Amino acid sequence: MASIYITRKIPESGLEMIKKKFGKFDINQENRVLTKSELIKNVKNRDGILCLLTDSIDKEIIDAMGNTCKIISNYAVGFNNIDVEYASKRKKMVTNTPGVLTDATSDLAISLLFSCARRIVESDEFTRTGKYKGWDPMLLLGQEVTGKTLGIIGAGRIGTVVAQKLARGFNMKIIYDDRSNNFDLEKSTNAKRVDLPTLLKNSDFISVHVSLNKDNHDLLSKKEFNMMKRTCVFINTSRGEVVDEKALVNALKEKKIFAAGLDVYESEPRLANGLTRLDNVIIVPHIGSATVRARTLMATMAAQNLIDGLQGKIPKYCVNKDRL
Ligand code: DGY
Repeated sequence: MASIYITRKIPESGLEMIKKKFGKFDINQENRVLTKSELIKNVKNRDGILCLLTDSIDKEIIDAMGNTCKIISNYAVGFNNIDVEYASKRKKMVTNTPGVLTDATSDLAISLLFSCARRIVESDEFTRTGKYKGWDPMLLLGQEVTGKTLGIIGAGRIGTVVAQKLARGFNMKIIYDDRSNNFDLEKSTNAKRVDLPTLLKNSDFISVHVSLNKDNHDLLSKKEFNMMKRTCVFINTSRGEVVDEKALVNALKEKKIFAAGLDVYESEPRLANGLTRLDNVIIVPHIGSATVRARTLMATMAAQNLIDGLQGKIPKYCVNKDRL
């Protein structure tokens, strides 16, 4: 019988599949991230691991898995928490959960975009605390969304869907920056591919959807925020490390941009100094995929990846099949 370790509770749908197939598994019963030494202890001599984006699966953890472990099934679409190169060297399949969270995450990016543009959180606070004394021509003026230019940084699955929803629903003009042309996006929204400086200078709204890699840490820093329009709304639902958060705090403080909506942070769950004191930022706790549907489907997908890997198949969502 396969020996399986799950680093944190995920929705029942996935756990049931694993139980049905293999009879049992071990799981971290506490509702917290395991420490490194706990991870090392628990992954030893397993055949498969199901882990979360909050587990840093580095060389040391992979070595602790030994030779028995065949598969590391990540409960996330992003897999920057895993040293995939080293896992491949040690002949371990790494899998992720793409597609099922595209709608949830794109919906959140759009919610943040509107909430920032129309100052929804500030307005709620204003009304709730009794400051609303009557209609005022100059009260809480925001930015209009319809017909404006949206710059998408990273036109993969989620970036594409954000652009399509906003182009169809709100007639936004789409420009995007990516390593290659996305012809589906161009065809469906009339989007134009531009370089990053052109995108930064011309967008009314910017939404980041890149996956984190070794080349894009601090992709958006002081220089990039300085290029944006003063009326620009900046959204990040991808990974915090692509933004120099200190530079973003300064840009917001100095009103170099209008507002920002953030779901992810550079040193999650820690926030940059000064971020919570700003009125022109909306901060939410990495909830991009946090819908019942998305999290349930992520669980069944991660479980299926694990089951396939343990049964000697290459799972459909194996990210390192060419490197094994
Ligand atoms: C992911 O899957 O990578 C998201 O950040 C969390 O669901």
